[in-house]
Amino acid sequence: MTSLLPRTALATFAALGLMAGSAFAQDYPTQPITFIVPFSAGGPTDTVARLVAQAMSDELGQQILVQNVGGAGGTLGAGQAATAAPDGYTLLLHHIGMSTAPALYADLPFDPIEDFEPIGLITEVPMTLVARADFEPETLEELVTYIQENGENVIYGNAGIGAASQLCGLLLQDALGVRMTEVPYQGTGPAMTDLLGGQIDMMCDQTTNTTTQIQAGEIKAYAVTSPERLDNLPDIPTTSEGGLNLEVGIWHGLYAPAGTDAAIIERLTEALQVALADETVITRFAELGTAPVTEGQATPEGLAETLSSQIELWGEVIAAAGVTAQ
Ligand code: MLT
Repeated sequence: MTSLLPRTALATFAALGLMAGSAFAQDYPTQPITFIVPFSAGGPTDTVARLVAQAMSDELGQQILVQNVGGAGGTLGAGQAATAAPDGYTLLLHHIGMSTAPALYADLPFDPIEDFEPIGLITEVPMTLVARADFEPETLEELVTYIQENGENVIYGNAGIGAASQLCGLLLQDALGVRMTEVPYQGTGPAMTDLLGGQIDMMCDQTTNTTTQIQAGEIKAYAVTSPERLDNLPDIPTTSEGGLNLEVGIWHGLYAPAGTDAAIIERLTEALQVALADETVITRFAELGTAPVTEGQATPEGLAETLSSQIELWGEVIAAAGVTAQ
C-alpha cells in the first residue's frame, strides 16, 4: 500500500514544508513500511534486513515488509527505491554496492547521494573465501597456487557486477594477477545453493551467509577478510595471515527516497538505533560474525560520510582495475 499522492505532489509538499510538523509526519507511521532489498531472499543482505526490520517494526508499531528486487548487482532494486514516493513507506537497505555502482555503470538509473536521504549505517560484515566441500585446495596458500595455475577453469559465483561478492572477487583476482570464470546470480543466496551442489567452485561471501555452512562443514573456508580472526569462526585465518592483501568489510545502510520529510527521517533514525541496541539483533549478528555499528554511526551523517568516502575509494580501485558493467 503506497501513498495516494503522486511522487511529485509529495515532493512539492515536502519542499513547501507542508509536511514538516504536519499530522503526516507526526503520526508517522500509520501503515506498513517496505524495505527494498536489492538481492535475492535468503542471502546476506536479506538476513541483515529481516533482523533489523523486525526490531524496527517493534519500535515503530507498524509491520515492515521486505521486498527482494535482485538484479544488476543491486542497482535494479536501488533504482526502484530511488523513484518511490518520499513518504517514509518505501525504504532501501543496501550495502557497499551503493558506492561501487557509480564507477561500474555508465547509465546508472539513480544517484546514490542525490536521490536518497541517508537514515543510518547498520553493520559492517566481514567476508569469507569459501569453496565447495570437495574442492582440491586445503589451505589458503594451496588455494592461491590453485587459482594461479587454473585461472579461468575456476568457476567463481557472485551476485552480479557491483555486488560485494563481485568486488571481493575483483580484489582477489587483482591480488593474484589472474582471471577466473565468474557466474552471476541475483544474490549469493542462490549462489550458495549451487556451491553446496558443486555447480560452482568458490565464492567470496559475507559471514552472514556462510557461517552456518562453514560451521556445519558443508563448504570449505580458507580465510576471512577482517583484520582479526572472528569469534564465531576462530579456526579460519585472516587473509593477511596467509599473506594475501585482501581486507574488505561490507558496510550496510538504510535510505529513504530524496525529499522524505526530515521529521520522518529522524523517527526512522531513532528506531534504527533502538533496533541496533536490541539483544536479539546483537546476539544474532554475533553468531553470524558481525556487530551493530555505534549509535554515532547509525545516523544520517554517519552514513553520508561513509557513502561519499567509499564512492571515492572504490572509484579509484575500479578505474585502476579497468572493470565496467558494460
Ligand atoms: C546478497 O545479499 O545476495 C549479497 O549481498 C550479494 C553481494 O553483494 O554479494
